[in-house]
Amino acid sequence: MLRDNRFQRFEVIPLTGALGADVRGVELADNADDEVFKELRRVLDHYHVIAIRGQKLTPQTFHEVARRFGAFSGNPVHQPMEGLEDVVTFMREPEDTGMVAGENWHMDLAWMEKPPGITMLYGHVIPPVGGDTCFASLEHAYHALSPGMKTLLESLTGIHCGKGVFGINAATMRLGLRTDNAKAIEELETEHPVICAHPATGKRYVFVSSVLQRFKGLTEAETKPIVDYILGLATRPERTCRVRWEEGTLTMWANPFVLHTAINDYSGYRRVTYRTTVKGHVPMAAPAESNDAKAVRAA
Ligand code: SIN
Repeated sequence: MLRDNRFQRFEVIPLTGALGADVRGVELADNADDEVFKELRRVLDHYHVIAIRGQKLTPQTFHEVARRFGAFSGNPVHQPMEGLEDVVTFMREPEDTGMVAGENWHMDLAWMEKPPGITMLYGHVIPPVGGDTCFASLEHAYHALSPGMKTLLESLTGIHCGKGVFGINAATMRLGLRTDNAKAIEELETEHPVICAHPATGKRYVFVSSVLQRFKGLTEAETKPIVDYILGLATRPERTCRVRWEEGTLTMWANPFVLHTAINDYSGYRRVTYRTTVKGHVPMAAPAESNDAKAVRAA
């Protein structure tokens, strides 16, 4: 098994050749020092998804650990846990049917002006089989585009909409929804550049998600085939990883750089997770580059 020796404070074991790593040998609830959190942030900047194994968190300590990564982003959609404004419980009972929370490829809250920078999900009760989460790399999707497509996308602005978000979530059993701002969110349209650069690494990625409704100046019908094409590229197996949960796994993902989907394959079993989101940045347009540079990067 490959260990990434650039990180010395704990073990970092890549999950696939594209993205994601298991992290072992660190206990976060134990008031870990600031350097541990800085190193985890660097691992996340590099791998975009990390599954930190062997944690023992309560909702309260989960909240405290999350706060060490920055301020919370706020979650205007889901009803929080009582007493912990920024923590949501995702619960599925053995007899539940229909969709699971987070089913189908998406990015969390992509229609916010500052989409969450990190989503954190803690596995409290995990089924003996199934219930994995899959992730797809928007950085690798960028590199899979032709120079011509990159140039076209550099010139475009995506309009991301909150429309339908409450309906999708309402289709999931046991997920309490907020009502205070629902109408405004349903009408929200937020503009983001399509080709963006990571604020820490400068690496390019394509900022698309399932709520990108149209490109500015284009119709929805003109936009959809392009977005579907990019989503198809991103979610090809070689650009994905899959986290197999264990009780006590804390999975964190760099939300704007990946798409993720929950897998609905654990009917008859219970699954309980705690979830929160840490504040991110306004997505930053990548500086334009020549076609030659684009071709070299793709090689
Ligand atoms: C989510 O989409 O945030 C939830 C993913 C999961 O429960 O596996």
